[in-house]
Order: sequence, then structure tokens, then C-alpha cells
Amino acid sequence: MKLWSGRFGKETNTLVNDFNASIHFDQRLYREDIAGSLAHAQMLASCGVISSEDAAAIAEGLKSILADIEAGTVTFTPDNEDIHMNVEALLTARIGDAGKRLHTARSRNDQVALDFRMYVRHEIPVIIAELLNLQSVLARQAKEHQTTVMPGYTHLQRAQPISFAHHLLAYAAMLSRDVTRLEDCNKRLNECPLGSGALAGTTYPIDRWQTAKALDFDAPMGNSLDGVSDRDYALELLSALSILMMHLSRFSEEVILWCSWEFKFIELDDAYSTGSSIMPQKKNPDVAELVRGKTGRVYGDLMGLLTAMKGLPLAYNKDMQEDKEPVFDAVDTVELCLPVFAAMLDTMTVRPDNMRAAAGRGFINATDCADYLTKQGMPFRDAYTVTGKLVSQCTERGITLEELTLSELQATSPLFEEDVYDALKLENCMSRRSCYGGPAPEETARQIQAVEAFVEAHAVTSAAPQ
Ligand code: ARG
Repeated sequence: MKLWSGRFGKETNTLVNDFNASIHFDQRLYREDIAGSLAHAQMLASCGVISSEDAAAIAEGLKSILADIEAGTVTFTPDNEDIHMNVEALLTARIGDAGKRLHTARSRNDQVALDFRMYVRHEIPVIIAELLNLQSVLARQAKEHQTTVMPGYTHLQRAQPISFAHHLLAYAAMLSRDVTRLEDCNKRLNECPLGSGALAGTTYPIDRWQTAKALDFDAPMGNSLDGVSDRDYALELLSALSILMMHLSRFSEEVILWCSWEFKFIELDDAYSTGSSIMPQKKNPDVAELVRGKTGRVYGDLMGLLTAMKGLPLAYNKDMQEDKEPVFDAVDTVELCLPVFAAMLDTMTVRPDNMRAAAGRGFINATDCADYLTKQGMPFRDAYTVTGKLVSQCTERGITLEELTLSELQATSPLFEEDVYDALKLENCMSRRSCYGGPAPEETARQIQAVEAFVEAHAVTSAAPQ
């Protein structure tokens, strides 16, 4: 018999029973659900709404249910629809009438809002810790490659010389913002919806501050209708995870390119690569491809929930039961991707020789050539044109700028002197870009330190309450 069967004259149709049930996925919230009920019962007793004997029986019963769920001895049933009613039914079966008093001054609407917020709040630090680990891997690899020259690209065309460290540190910087986006989300969500009731609060003399405090929230939510209606925290999480996956996906794309014979800038460890069932020579970057592929899935989770929430009148609507699976899926996906991605990068072999060879072709020192002439007194726009002509000559002859003789250079501009060769040397072009944020080794050293300090600072704050 349903907990809510009082006003019904018929049994629920079996199709509807299964269709309506969410227990097969929301059982993941059992910890949050029980923690919320423990705090609620305690508060009801201290406000005199239920007796302290009942509260003690409820607490004992809930704790035994928790232990049994963890031990795997509890069977949930779709007949009790969701985790909230499953736990309540189990409790009443164990302790009798006291169990039936637990739901006083509460609704599943504030209960589910509470559980879901607590779930999101719990997962955010897990993801942050994984992000920080990836940043540490990047900082370590960057340390070893501060003088490893590689071409920086725009339009996937060789553009200007950078170091491999500089490239890795660009991703480390993006990941810092992913961390702070998640931290922001956690700060904003940390208000307690419990006590909002179905939508309009309650006439019982409850203490919402007590439950908020007991459950480690900063405060109760200020409007009961809002408390049960919004899922913006879940959408913020999904947005932050979508952006994070977009970063990983771009990085994956580069790993895939860099592993190709066309680049061969890196080689992945055998343990992080896969083979082909037919082509004996193949070593494929499946990990990076899967991360790129799973990005679409996380975007789908975000779009799914945004679309489900769009146009819903206040307050609770059953549509909102659809909020959990996309969030679980996105969290699982990100928590799966981050460690394997970090380990893949931690174990890769970098090929500085191939990066240097690629940097040597493609005139990535052309800007430096123009800058040389500019420093000799020529207006930059003219220096740009002169260099363009030199590039064109070199392209025809199949040589590089630094392979032109001084007299050939001087035939285009008398401002060229012997020290131009020093200015065109790729290592110098890279290391002289020492402006703040640039690829020069002293600048990448500063960036590495900044990443390390960030990791240390945020590791402390990421230890959040359940
Ligand atoms: N299983 C429901 C959900 O996930 C719990 C809230 C149900 N509330 C209700 N009024 N039917 O959204």
C-alpha cells in the first residue's frame, strides 16, 4: 500500500507504478536522505513537535537502516517510489509509530531539494581534488620543458615560438578557473531548503536554523517556494562541468594530433594507449578520444536539465525528478575522465627534437624579424612588409629566414646587421618573450610557482562537509 494511498480508491496501475518510480537511480541519495532525516527528527524533538523518545527511536532506526544499506542487505522497491519513501517505509517497519511521525512538518519536496543539494555539495570537492591533481601533473611536466621550443599555432598554422611548458601552463590556468567556478557554485548552493515543506513552509514551530546548522549549511533558504522549486545549483554544476570538459576536449584533441606521425610531439605510454584488431602497427590515443567524446555527453546532461526546467510553473513539478540522472551522469563522467587523463599526461614521453624540427620550418620567427627592423628604427608596418617579402623569397627557394646571407638581407633593407641572426634564433625568440604571461623560462617558472601555490591553497578549502 502506498504511503499516499489515503484518498485513492484504486491500486496504481503497474505501468504507472514503474514509470513514476525513481528509486532505481535516486537510491544513490540514501546517505543524504538519512542525514537530513536525522537532523529533522532531532529538531522536531527540540522544538517539542515530537517526543525525545520518538526522536531517539527514529535516530536509532535510521542508523540501523544506513548500516544495512551499506552492508548491502536492504532491498529497495519501486512500490515505495523513491529513496525518501523507501527509507520511511523501512523505518516504520522497524520502529512502528515513531517512524510515522518523522514526516511531520516536512514534504518530499523539501526533502529531495535537500538531498540533491547535499549530493552536489559532496561531489564538488571530489572533482576539485581531481582537477588539482591534474594541475600538479601539468606543473611537473612544465618544469621539465621550460626550454623545449615548440611552434605555437593559430589556425593550426605555425605562428610564433613558445615552449612546451608554456602550452601546458595555458591549460593549468584554465583548470584554475574550473576549480574556482566549482567553489563558487558550492558557496552559492550552501543554503538549506529543509523546512520549506511542500511549498509554503509549515504551521509547526520548527527551527530551520537548527537543521541548517546541523547539516553544515550557512543558513536556511529565505523563501520556501524558492527552496523547493529551483535547481539552479545543479545547472551551475553542469555548466561548470561542461566548461571543464570543453577544456579537456581541446587538450585531448591536441594530444591526439601530437601523437600522430604528422606531429610526433609526444608519445603516450603503452599502458595508456590501445591497439587495433587488424593493423599490427597501430597505437591509438583512445583515452584522449574518449574524453573528447564524453564531452558531448556532459553537454547533453546540461541541455537536458535546462530544457526540463524551462517553463515549469512554481513550485515542485514531477518533471523535476528528471534532474538527478543527468547530474549523476555528468559527475560520474567527469570523475572518470580526470584521473585517467592526468595519468596519461603524467606518463607521456615528450619529443623535444620533433617539436624543435617543426618550429624550424614555417617562419615562426618572422614577427621577430619585423621586430628587429622596428628596433633598428623602421616603422613596424614597413618592417612587416619587408619581412613578408623575405618570407616570400625564402618560400620560393625552400630556405629559412636565418639561411639568407647578410648581403641578401641587406639588399632588402640596409638596417640588417650581423646581430639579426641572434634575433632570429628560435631559442632567443622564445626566451626573449619575457613579458608577464609570456613563454620565457623565467616567466614559465613564475607560472609554475603560481600553479603550485594555487593547488596548495585550494586543496585546503576543498575538504567540505558531507
Ligand atoms: N522522487 C521525487 C523527485 O525526485 C521526490 C519528490 C516527490 N514529490 C512529489 N510531490 N511527488 O523529485
